[in-house]
Amino acid sequence: MAFPTHRPRRLRRTAALRSMIQETHLSVRSLVYPLFACPGSGVKQEIGSMPGNYRWSVDLLAEECKQVFDLGIPAVLLFGIPESKDEAGSGAYDPDGIVQRAARKVKKAVPELLVICDVCLDEYTSHGHCGLIKNGEIDNDSTLELLGKTAVTQVEAGADVVAPSDMMDGRVGRIREDLDAEGFTQTPILAYSAKYASAFYGPFREAADSAPKFGDRKSYQMDPANQREALREIALDIEEGADMIMVKPALPYLDIIAMARAEFDVPMAAYQVSGEFSMIEAAARAGWIDRKRTVMETLVSIRRAGADVILTYFAKDVARWLAS
Ligand code: PBG
Repeated sequence: MAFPTHRPRRLRRTAALRSMIQETHLSVRSLVYPLFACPGSGVKQEIGSMPGNYRWSVDLLAEECKQVFDLGIPAVLLFGIPESKDEAGSGAYDPDGIVQRAARKVKKAVPELLVICDVCLDEYTSHGHCGLIKNGEIDNDSTLELLGKTAVTQVEAGADVVAPSDMMDGRVGRIREDLDAEGFTQTPILAYSAKYASAFYGPFREAADSAPKFGDRKSYQMDPANQREALREIALDIEEGADMIMVKPALPYLDIIAMARAEFDVPMAAYQVSGEFSMIEAAARAGWIDRKRTVMETLVSIRRAGADVILTYFAKDVARWLAS
């Protein structure tokens, strides 16, 4: 008893019917806008591989954040480009480092905007890796102390949430312990739990000048071929105290998002990363795809797969589109 009794097209006939039965909804409330802070003042420098995205000095960043908040976007994710880099990435945990200064300024200018700080060393190390180097390898355990310090200085500066993206083992537990020891028991951790060694981070590495100077990130970030391993990584992070988890990148990893949603009850974010942004942007600029429709389709797909929160460089556009 299929056709002609059943006609799925009946419910697609009008816009009102389609909208009534829509299963997935996009809301500005689930968006996070990533931003790059750089030294100086009055600086707004476009990132070549990410048109429409800028390196902002802290003064202009605060202005930008006001606009972001006025668009209804509840949160920003801050990255920093330091004055100088060194072996140990000391700019990451300098109480007066670039992200700490940015967080302080933004919280003062727009107190209600949630400030999430990325916890990682790669933007701050001269070698571009996310951990300390020992005997030519990225050393896990000695890096943990620095990540803990990074998170503590960020929260002292006003960060509402910290988001470790380094993929060292045990970092969520260490950050939780260090935050608690300083009395920051109420500050949530958003863990980049399933973070893949992806080519889609290319434009970000230009933005932050953070490409590794030797080797690659495959000894700490995950192999794109692995699915079950993501569940193990997520389980470990939750055990160590992650309040929210993240899958990154987003669109090429919808299966991971869907599996994680089925398996775990914690809120989950997905990061539509720089390469996902630039790919759409480039094709749209060439006139090959419709920018708005493509962006909205990717985001609704990421939500449909199971993500609660989406980090995206399109957040401001999407906020405007949703409002009109
Ligand atoms: C590491 C970090 C990276 C991104 C977010 N946090 C770069 C990397 O792992 O190489 C990439 C984000 C993007 O591509 O938009 N601090």
